[in-house]
Amino acid sequence: MTKTVTVIPGDGIGPEVTREALETVDALGLDLRFDLLDHVNADTYLRTGVSLSDEDFGRVKASDAVLFGAIGDPRVKTSDYGRGVLLRLRFELDLFVNHRPATLLHEDLSPLRDARAGAIDCVIVRENTEGLYADIGGVLRENTEHETAVDADVSTYMGVSRVMEYAYSIARRGVCMVDKSNAVRHGGKIWQRVFKKAASRNPIIRSTHLYVDTAAMKLISDPSQFDVIVTNNSYGDILSDLAAVLAGGLGNAGSANINPVTGFGLYEPVHGSAPDIAGRGIGNPFGAILSYALMLENFGWTAEASALRRAVGTAISERRVTADLGGSLGTKEVGEAVRSALSAR
Ligand code: NAI
Ligand code: MG
Repeated sequence: MTKTVTVIPGDGIGPEVTREALETVDALGLDLRFDLLDHVNADTYLRTGVSLSDEDFGRVKASDAVLFGAIGDPRVKTSDYGRGVLLRLRFELDLFVNHRPATLLHEDLSPLRDARAGAIDCVIVRENTEGLYADIGGVLRENTEHETAVDADVSTYMGVSRVMEYAYSIARRGVCMVDKSNAVRHGGKIWQRVFKKAASRNPIIRSTHLYVDTAAMKLISDPSQFDVIVTNNSYGDILSDLAAVLAGGLGNAGSANINPVTGFGLYEPVHGSAPDIAGRGIGNPFGAILSYALMLENFGWTAEASALRRAVGTAISERRVTADLGGSLGTKEVGEAVRSALSAR
């Protein structure tokens, strides 16, 4: 059956990497129909004050998935724009899992001295609808010397339970739960209790726990020990950028924002709109391509998803890469390298 996919390229390098990734997915000849929402961007927001209209939100809801580039523009000074697009989609579609794989694609790309011993191959499962992003809080005595801001760090039993269940459902070797329950005590109790229950229900999977500071250290000293890391919204945000660099760079990292119950997903590279390099056609499209591979996998096209990943690996082995990976090719030429590896399969 035809899958309809809404496409939101966004700002900066978003449209550049999205174009290449779409063309690459198109080359697989799958039964996909794309609904392009290229007007959802900072230009529209600056002109109209609308981030994502209800009509566009309706088109997203009527589709099977969203392919997202990146949003963010130096001209937009308020966080309302970003919240209005990406966070609206994550929250209103209840995309409570942010699935962020970090796998070293080629040992040349590792920043570690001993790449082979410590190759990273893990998935960070980031809780995606609660924590500090819940937007609960406020400001007291604004613009005075006594100004006080509060952002509540929300953890609900249901929210933690469902993301924990997802983490165990995808684990092959182990689940490491990361929190800061020694200092952030109330939410920490929920995370600890839910984790212990899940661990006892899954005796075959190795369950471990780390505080977030230690987890950051261990990701650098021996990333190979991790299979699935499950953590809250902010720790997941930070650790996944760290893991992305260990896997070869932020430009390579893909992610899926999913609701495993409804099956709906929003797929996006982990990086942002990269205004410092936007408009020059030099953004690395691998993060976008690998995000779309996650979509294909969730649609059941697993062979095609693997083919995409292998084709990216081939382009890297042939050093047909952008400047962030030490190459000299543009976004478009890298897309072509991936497609030529695909057609040679
Ligand atoms: P960023 O990820 O856009 O850029 C960080 C650094 O990595 C920059 O030096 C950039 O040139 C480089 N980089 C990122 N992606 C790359 C790629 N594909 N190829 C080559 N180099 C790449 O993060 P930054 O600078 O903190 O944010 C820029 C804007 O993006 C902001 O407006 C921010 O709010 C937004 N943003 C949006 C996200 C999203 O839409 N999901 C996620 C993160 C940031
Ligand atoms: Mg981030």
